[in-house]
Amino acid sequence: MTRRFYFAAVLLAVWSCGDPVHDTRVDALGGEKSGVPTGPTHRSGQPCLTCHGGQGPADLELSVAGTIYQTAAPDSPPLEGATVTVFDATQLADGGAPRTAVTNAAGNFSFRRTEWAPVYPLHDISVTFPGVAAPTTMHTTVGRDGSCASCHVDPKGPATHGHVYLVLEPADLPGAMP
Ligand code: HEC
Ligand code: HEC
Repeated sequence: MTRRFYFAAVLLAVWSCGDPVHDTRVDALGGEKSGVPTGPTHRSGQPCLTCHGGQGPADLELSVAGTIYQTAAPDSPPLEGATVTVFDATQLADGGAPRTAVTNAAGNFSFRRTEWAPVYPLHDISVTFPGVAAPTTMHTTVGRDGSCASCHVDPKGPATHGHVYLVLEPADLPGAMP
């Protein structure tokens, strides 16, 4: 077949099947955990924007989202009631008006794209919790990816930082924690 026809056939195949790279990323995340309804508390620790980033399969578009855990231990429970603060490129760390979101029972938080479409890079991302004096702050800036789990995935290794946590050790948690 002619080269032109070949390109047209490839384009048609890509068009009709969606983006195969994207589909592979979605499939790699597997199915829903049994007992967890599809919604705000599902898929803790996963890169939410793989599905909620505008390419589907989720209709709801999120701009920045992730999961916060209590401690650095790989089996740490999630942290409910933490405030996640995020600055974007239009906001100075001192005196800007950062966006904040509070984690739910699964440790998940999210910003909907309709409520906030940040200008990258994101910076001075921090986690605060009542009874823990100093915020846990990230110094690295985020260039383009709104999923915390794109970098914060377990197990911690050379290429990943491990999940996002409030304190290193259980002993550092405020007294009333479960
Ligand atoms: C593998 C794909 C996938 C991942 C990863 C994923 N979700 Fe979802 N999520 C869905 C689908 C599909 C729905 C069904 C509703 C829809 O289409 O928006 C949904 C629904 C939701 C809803 C309810 C939407 C509504 O309109 O009722 C919220 C909130 C949500 N997810 C948050 C998250 C958060 C936070 C994360 C990351 C911790 C996450 N999701 C990770 C696929 C995913
Ligand atoms: C581009 C990669 C990347 C993304 C995306 C990212 N982080 Fe980080 N994060 C890092 C690195 C690397 C560190 C360790 C160095 C530092 O503190 O900057 C870190 C450290 C942290 C820390 C300090 C405590 C700790 O775990 O060491 C917090 C809190 C944190 N990140 C929260 C977040 C949250 C919340 C998000 C999503 C909104 C996020 N990060 C997205 C790379 C990333």
